[in-house]
Amino acid sequence: MTSSAQLERARIVDETIVARQSTRAFLDTPVSRETLSEILDVAARTASGANRQPWKVYVLQGRSRDELSQKVCAAHDALRNEPIASPTMREGYDYYPRQWVSPYLERRKENGWGLYGLLGIAKGERDRMHAQHQRNFKFFDAPVGLMLTVDERMMPGALLDYGGFMQNIMVAAQARGLATCAQAAWNSFQDIVLSHVGAAPGELLVTGMALGHADPKALVNTFRTPREPAQAFTSWLD
Ligand SMILES: Cc1cc2nc3c(=O)[nH]c(=O)nc-3n(C[C@H](O)[C@H](O)[C@H](O)COP(=O)(O)O)c2cc1C
Repeated sequence: MTSSAQLERARIVDETIVARQSTRAFLDTPVSRETLSEILDVAARTASGANRQPWKVYVLQGRSRDELSQKVCAAHDALRNEPIASPTMREGYDYYPRQWVSPYLERRKENGWGLYGLLGIAKGERDRMHAQHQRNFKFFDAPVGLMLTVDERMMPGALLDYGGFMQNIMVAAQARGLATCAQAAWNSFQDIVLSHVGAAPGELLVTGMALGHADPKALVNTFRTPREPAQAFTSWLD
């Protein structure tokens, strides 16, 4: 390959990675099965330890998507009224730490309040926060919801493979003009999700993901998150 072709290839790949962002408002424009299959076939090339390929994907559209949304929105509302009685809450693994520490705590707060601030939701506006959080369980109106599961016998190492797999889905979608949002919000309702999709015994929910065409007019989609530069997290050793 000529070096100019190589530069162009790097530019396209870099731009696609950088342009990906978590999208939280989608149009109802459908995504073809052919496109979804292409994206998943590309993501299947993700590296995994011993090539174990620990991913399993459920694609929800139409009725299966709507019915899962209804079930989980109802459970989410019930939990709000009865937070102590939460038999429906059982995550397959701890995605978030039990205790947040600096500097992650500050980043989490900046992220959360940045998003709510953009939407004009102030501290203490519990109804509006609940409603915004519940948008997760409607896949932010995306026509496609993915549920990604793993065989619990491959835990916890398979989660490392899974991070790459998710990123590749998101980047392959981005390259096709589609948007995504990874959604650990579903994990608390994994019992409902797993039974809804007909998962086999021993499958854990790794995460959900919304996928579709971004709503270009939605304010929430103007939210941009900062990053530390590589220099801040890299040590160069001679
Ligand atoms: C595994 C994973 C789970 C996530 N879960 C949620 C979620 O449940 N709801 C949500 O709105 N965003 C979720 N996010 C999106 C993150 O908040 C987002 O990636 C982060 O703030 C960086 O912003 P960016 O994706 O726009 O670059 C998740 C991201 C990852 C990687």
